[in-house]
Amino acid sequence: MIRRPIRLLAAGVATLALAVTAASAWAAPAPKGPDLKPSTKVAMAKQTRGITAAKAAALASYKPTDNFTATWKRADALKVAGDATNTTPIIPPDFPVISQDVWQWDTWPLTNIDTKPITYKGWHVIMSLVAPRDIPFGDRHWVARIGYYYSKDGHNWIYGGHLIPEARGIGCMEWAGTAIMTGKNTVRQFYTTVGHQRGGPTCRTSPPYDTMQRLAVTQGQIHADSKGVWFTGFTKHTVIAQPDGKYYQTQDQGIPPTDYAFRDPFIFRNPKDKKIYAVWEGNTGGLTGTYQCTKRDLGNLPPGHTVDPISANYTGNIGLMKATNKSLTTWKLLSPLLSANCVNRQTERPHVVFSKGLTYLFTISHKFTYAPGVTGPDGVYGFVGPSLRSDYRPMNGSGLVLGNPPEAPEQNYSHEVLPNLMVQSFIDQVPTGNGNKPGGTLAPTLQLAFDGANSYLTRVLPYGYIPAMAGN
Ligand code: FRU
Repeated sequence: MIRRPIRLLAAGVATLALAVTAASAWAAPAPKGPDLKPSTKVAMAKQTRGITAAKAAALASYKPTDNFTATWKRADALKVAGDATNTTPIIPPDFPVISQDVWQWDTWPLTNIDTKPITYKGWHVIMSLVAPRDIPFGDRHWVARIGYYYSKDGHNWIYGGHLIPEARGIGCMEWAGTAIMTGKNTVRQFYTTVGHQRGGPTCRTSPPYDTMQRLAVTQGQIHADSKGVWFTGFTKHTVIAQPDGKYYQTQDQGIPPTDYAFRDPFIFRNPKDKKIYAVWEGNTGGLTGTYQCTKRDLGNLPPGHTVDPISANYTGNIGLMKATNKSLTTWKLLSPLLSANCVNRQTERPHVVFSKGLTYLFTISHKFTYAPGVTGPDGVYGFVGPSLRSDYRPMNGSGLVLGNPPEAPEQNYSHEVLPNLMVQSFIDQVPTGNGNKPGGTLAPTLQLAFDGANSYLTRVLPYGYIPAMAGN
């Protein structure tokens, strides 16, 4: 979540050695999670239905390099509604905290190139954005660094420190990304480098922040013994993408209420063509104020629904690019996979899950980033299609997969749906009856089940439970 002061918004390894999954070794039953209470304020009716798996498989499908962008339609967003199948259970204020030293938020497990969380020498590993706990929780973005944690059981995490050595990154701050194991002990950390130059005059910890965003990669080695995990390397950093101004808005083109973004790379191998791609959060290219909502953006709106012209400046999108070398340092920008024009200005931390022959595209978003006239909870939203570039349709008819309960609207954020349909996220703010308590630690993992474009919350798992699905 980024809540910037509004005035600031204007602004090789030749072969990827892939982990082999010994399926049975990773199929241990999930431990019991906390006994969280469901929200009493959501309708118990079944949520709006999404299309069937057969219909999703029959949607128009394109080559990843084709110029087709699916839309999250305003008419579909109007169907967003919380119910018992999509509302996150309530977290009590006495939740457990993983590290008393750092705030922990956006988190991603070490994975193989096929998006599966893996272990290294028996250790589970996750990366998280971290900031010292002695700064206000809301200021964490401006000093964010990537931290790492390790665990024997994918649940009891030990904080290991920063991944990238001091003064070795490109920009002022490190924001979300993906960590991929390639080779025997090589880890590639893809991330968002924010700000022009680390330690340079534009790097500030008070406004005006330097929020220029680029996608970057750095490489290092993982090491482990019986006591724990540590890393070396991550000293050489390469910018792999920046906005082109046509498909993806540059910082200079963005004026509020557009929320300039070019961040959160998620890297994966596409099972259909076996090529390597990245998705990330961008905004529709061009100067804020020049975009006009189209019929494809709006869909079949009900009589009397008005579209405030300001909605045309709410232009979040999900980008796509393709790796053009084996060491994953050169990439070709492609047209966006999905746009939320006239619906929502933030489509953060997009990621994909390949399940039963369908491609699921997820993103996280906020209530406060919806365009005027549409609304929904902070949570994770999803879209389904037959392939990576397709005419995606919203999960559950609206896009909403898991939203915060009305009693605790800022409770969970930065959800990631993993290939086993477990959803990990962090605790943002929990109401105590006497104000909000900041979380800055991992939330209970939630288990989903899918039936075509329909999703169902089926189980609450332990806090921060992110089990590996493969060894290395
Ligand atoms: C989501 C997010 C990401 C960004 C990070 C910055 O919580 O806003 O989009 O990378 O947090 O702190």
